[in-house]
Amino acid sequence: MARYYSFFMVLAVSLFAFPGTLPAKDMVLKKPPASLDKLYPPQSKEPQFIQQMHKMSGSFGGVFVNMKEGDWENAEKKAQAFVEAYEETSKMVPEWKDYFDLKAVKEFAAAVPSRDPAKIGKASGPVGKTCGKCHGEQTVAVWTRYHWPKVDQIKMVDPVTDKELTYGKFMHEISGTFKGVTVNFGEGQYDRSSKALRDFKKRYMELKSTCSKCHTNDAVKEFFVGQPIAEAFDNLARELTAAKPNPGNFWKNVGTIGKLGCKQCHLTHRSYAIIQETWEEE
Ligand code: HEC
Ligand code: HEC
Ligand code: HEC
Repeated sequence: MARYYSFFMVLAVSLFAFPGTLPAKDMVLKKPPASLDKLYPPQSKEPQFIQQMHKMSGSFGGVFVNMKEGDWENAEKKAQAFVEAYEETSKMVPEWKDYFDLKAVKEFAAAVPSRDPAKIGKASGPVGKTCGKCHGEQTVAVWTRYHWPKVDQIKMVDPVTDKELTYGKFMHEISGTFKGVTVNFGEGQYDRSSKALRDFKKRYMELKSTCSKCHTNDAVKEFFVGQPIAEAFDNLARELTAAKPNPGNFWKNVGTIGKLGCKQCHLTHRSYAIIQETWEEE
C-alpha cells in the first residue's frame, strides 16, 4: 500500500497558533542524506552524530552553567569549545551545511567575555534557533532510519500453512482470516466462522514469537497479545459454539481484538514501517 504514498510524506502539522502569529506549517519527512550513514551503526561503531550533539550541547549549555556561577574563566573556555564543536559538526553532513550559522556562533562566543548576561543571552538566540530548526525538521526522519528496527528483516512461518512469509504478507493473512470470522458470522454461517477463528487465533498468537526480535523485556507481551486478547478469543470461540450465538457478545469481543490488538499495535509500531517502506521504494 505504501507505493501509493509520494516520495516524501507531507504531514500537516497544525501549530494551534494564536491568532495573528505563525501560520500552520507542513512537515516534510525526507530520507536522511546517505552521508549520515557513516556516522551511525552499523557503518560506524559508535553513533558519532549523537556524540557530536552531546559535545555541542555540553559546551553550549556549559557557558550558561558557568555564567550563573560567575565562573567567567570556564564560561569563556566553554564558549571556545563550543565554536570548535559547532564548526566540526557543520562539516559532518555536507547536505545539511545550511542549517549551521558560523557567524552567529562566533558572535555569541565574542559576547561571552563581555560578562554581560543580557548581551550573552541575546547573542545565543540565533544560535539556539539553528539547533531547533534542524531538530524540528530532521529528528523524526533520523529516528525512523537509525533507531527503529525494520520489520522486513523478520521472517514469519505461517502456523496454518507452514509457509514462510514476510511480515507484511503475514499481516494480510491475519487480516484475511479475521474477515473470514466476521463475514461468515454476519451470514449466520457459524461453522465457517468457527473454523476461520481457529486459524485466526493461531496466526494472531504467532505474533508473540516476534516481540523478542526487537524487545528484550517480556513484559511488553501484556500489550496487543496479552490476557485481554486471549480472553476475547476464548469468548468468541464460546459464542460460536453456543446453541444460539449472541451477536452483541460476538461483536464486543471482535472490537476488543480490533482495538486493543490490531489498532493499538499499529499506532505504536506501524507509522515507522510505513515511512521506511516509502523510502525503500525510491
Ligand atoms: C543539522 C542538524 C542539527 C543541528 C544544526 C543540531 N542538531 Fe542536535 N540533533 C540532530 C538530530 C538529527 C538529532 C537526533 C539524533 C538521534 O537521535 O540519533 C539531534 C539530537 C540532539 C540531542 C539529543 C542527543 C541524544 O542523546 O538523543 C542534543 C542534546 C542535541 N541534538 C543538541 C544540539 C544543539 C545544542 C545544537 C545547536 C548548538 C544542535 N543539536 C544542532 C540534528 C541537529
Ligand atoms: C521490528 C521491531 C519490533 C517488533 C517486532 C515489536 N516491537 Fe514493540 N516496539 C519497537 C520499538 C522500536 C519500540 C519503541 C520503544 C522501544 O524501543 O522499546 C516499541 C514499543 C513497544 C511498546 C511500548 C512500550 C515500550 O516498551 O516501549 C510496546 C507495549 C510494544 N512495543 C509491544 C510489542 C509487542 C507485544 C510485540 C510483539 C507482539 C512487539 N512490540 C514487537 C519495536 C518492535
Ligand atoms: C504486534 C503488532 C501488530 C499487531 C497485533 C497487528 N499488526 Fe498489522 N501490522 C503491524 C506492522 C508493524 C505492520 C507493517 C508491516 C510492513 O510494513 O511490512 C502491519 C501491517 C498490517 C497490514 C498492511 C500490510 C502491508 O504490508 O500492506 C495489515 C492489512 C494489517 N497489519 C492488519 C492487521 C490486523 C487486521 C490485525 C489484527 C487482527 C493486525 N494487523 C495486528 C503490526 C501489528
